[in-house]
Amino acid sequence: MEEEKVLGQILDGKEISRKVKEEVLSEVNRLLAEGHRRPTLAVILVGEDPASAIYVNNKKKACARYGINSKSYELPASTSKDELLKLLDDLNADDAVDGILLQLPLPDQLHREENLFLERIHPDKDVDGFHPVSIGRLNLNLTGPRPCTPAGIMRLLEETGEDLDGKLALVIGRSNTVGKPLIQLLLQKNCTVISTHSHTKNLEDLTRQADILIASVGQLGFVTADMVKEGAIVIDVGINRLESGKVRGDVDFKAVRPKACWITKVPGGVGPMTIAMLLVNTLDCYKLREFGE
Ligand code: GUN
Repeated sequence: MEEEKVLGQILDGKEISRKVKEEVLSEVNRLLAEGHRRPTLAVILVGEDPASAIYVNNKKKACARYGINSKSYELPASTSKDELLKLLDDLNADDAVDGILLQLPLPDQLHREENLFLERIHPDKDVDGFHPVSIGRLNLNLTGPRPCTPAGIMRLLEETGEDLDGKLALVIGRSNTVGKPLIQLLLQKNCTVISTHSHTKNLEDLTRQADILIASVGQLGFVTADMVKEGAIVIDVGINRLESGKVRGDVDFKAVRPKACWITKVPGGVGPMTIAMLLVNTLDCYKLREFGE
């Protein structure tokens, strides 16, 4: 007989991310004590998108707190393609730089060529896991950097203690940064995976079957209680800013929580995990360059 599930439990990204970041810090301190150099992350922000500026700032603050050196490159929206490519080439060639993060989205004139820039970052310094080589390695189940948000979501799922094997996982959203890589990571845990998006028909009929429901839509309160199966794990990737300045997710948290076995909050769920996994990836890139492992 199946065990009765406890409903409404919060899957606390703030707490879990702190644990991950503390692990990074103690590893860095161990390396420093052994006489090794400190890992360094280069963070590039092009333009003045206010949300991106906040994310980049949070990334830099986390680096400073958890033992990673960060170098900041804040470029005007008018930056040319050649200027950005030159910066990426310089950072690739700089032995003091272990990881390169190019914050997305890029401003209008560069946005269309986003892939050109992501491909220019050397795969060994690809802390975001967005390079085609990294994506290929992910899809082939080979080692390599995993995109930070999907990696953070997998860590959250692990922390529930639930056996993921054979569970029906449904992802709403098919972005290159979240939805697509997440599909691969879920498959690697032997989930049965459904990928849904804006063209999906009868979405609710599908979501109601999901043991794990992950929303990466970008629409406030998109997932309502009637779309959720009782006892599901619900992960909210949405970051929607209200007029008041507050941030809320894609899930109607109040209504869905009593139905879910586990649920993440916004803020304090997936967001902090993304940053924690960036630090993990930076440390991994450093180790690859320093020790070849
Ligand atoms: N913009 C939104 N999420 C991300 C991310 O994970 N990495 C980068 N580089 N840009 C983003």
